[in-house]
Amino acid sequence: MNKSRIGILTGGGDCAGLNPAIKWAVKTALDRRLTQECGTEFEVIGIRNGWQGLITVDPSKMENGKYTVTLNEAMVRTWDRLGGTYLGSSRTNPYNPENDCSRLVMDNIAKLGLEALICIGGEDTLGVAYKLGQAGVNVVGIPKTIDKDLSGTEYTLGFETALNVITNAVDSLRTTAGSHERIFVIETMGRHAGWLALEGGESSGAFIILIPECDFSMNKVNDLVLEGRSLGARYDIILVAEGAKPVGGTEILKDEAPDSFGHKYLGGIGEYVARGIRKGTGLETRSLTLGHLQRGGDPCAYDRRMGRYFGIAAVDLVVARDYGKMVSMKNGEITTVPIKEALKPSLVNIKTQYDTERYSGRRAILRVRRKIRGQC
Ligand code: F6P
Repeated sequence: MNKSRIGILTGGGDCAGLNPAIKWAVKTALDRRLTQECGTEFEVIGIRNGWQGLITVDPSKMENGKYTVTLNEAMVRTWDRLGGTYLGSSRTNPYNPENDCSRLVMDNIAKLGLEALICIGGEDTLGVAYKLGQAGVNVVGIPKTIDKDLSGTEYTLGFETALNVITNAVDSLRTTAGSHERIFVIETMGRHAGWLALEGGESSGAFIILIPECDFSMNKVNDLVLEGRSLGARYDIILVAEGAKPVGGTEILKDEAPDSFGHKYLGGIGEYVARGIRKGTGLETRSLTLGHLQRGGDPCAYDRRMGRYFGIAAVDLVVARDYGKMVSMKNGEITTVPIKEALKPSLVNIKTQYDTERYSGRRAILRVRRKIRGQC
């Protein structure tokens, strides 16, 4: 009987859906029927802390190693119900220009005897997977990020659970906003994509939604707020993506220092908008930032199912030796896309998916909207 060892890792920002994907990759690879079908006995090795694990591992101590764990069905039995990632994650970049460890990673992959590596991640993790694939490593990707900014797929693990966090938070805020007749500005994550703010705002019924793809005018925000008040609104909910910025302005950062993939730490646009509303309308306005709450919590039903489907499909690609691909969802079907394609950023199309006149979700879905000159 042939034997084949598959590595699996989770990299970048964690989120709900990772553990379900790991569980179902393990269950699929260790399925006795698969072994009989392809005459190969698979073994799944979990790599801890993303790419950091493959830099720091001592391949000679694989068993109960600090950075590797042999996974079996009994271990992963309950993982589909749990948030985060049991394997741990990191933002370590083996191709960091200041400290390139990519050769060490490839050597360790070989020394661990990994026939293939399933990489669960977003643009950063899969960008590393793509480069390793180009250098000859057998890689398969699973799309994961609450930002939903990967191309070639309608879904990335974690997005729906994050939407539920946003929606529940807005529902809770409505009572205090109403009690005090206040405006609440809620800053969401999403980095340079507006999907979380847009779809979180649509699901929670936010009055205004500001996204990175459409720079906003503070005067127009204030006009919309005052118009709402004149029509009887007692309070308002406004969602602002962390990467949104005013016309002619720049993104607001919490920290200039870039991480190992060059990302700067966004944060503060929510209070910027709240201050602008207080100043421009005189209305009581408060802001809050949901931050990492959007990455937390146990997976919703959709993330459990998508983690299952993506985990199974990733092993299907390994069995077929169809490497260099990311499993994806298109037109509701599970399919694949070359990892290189997936790395192109997927952003909100403000002409078809956003109302640039009222800074909110689209108000025409099955009819062509007349042209409106917007700020964007
Ligand atoms: O990419 C996912 C994400 O949550 C972004 O929305 C956010 O800007 C970033 O990660 C936060 O990174 P960290 O977890 O390193 O603070």
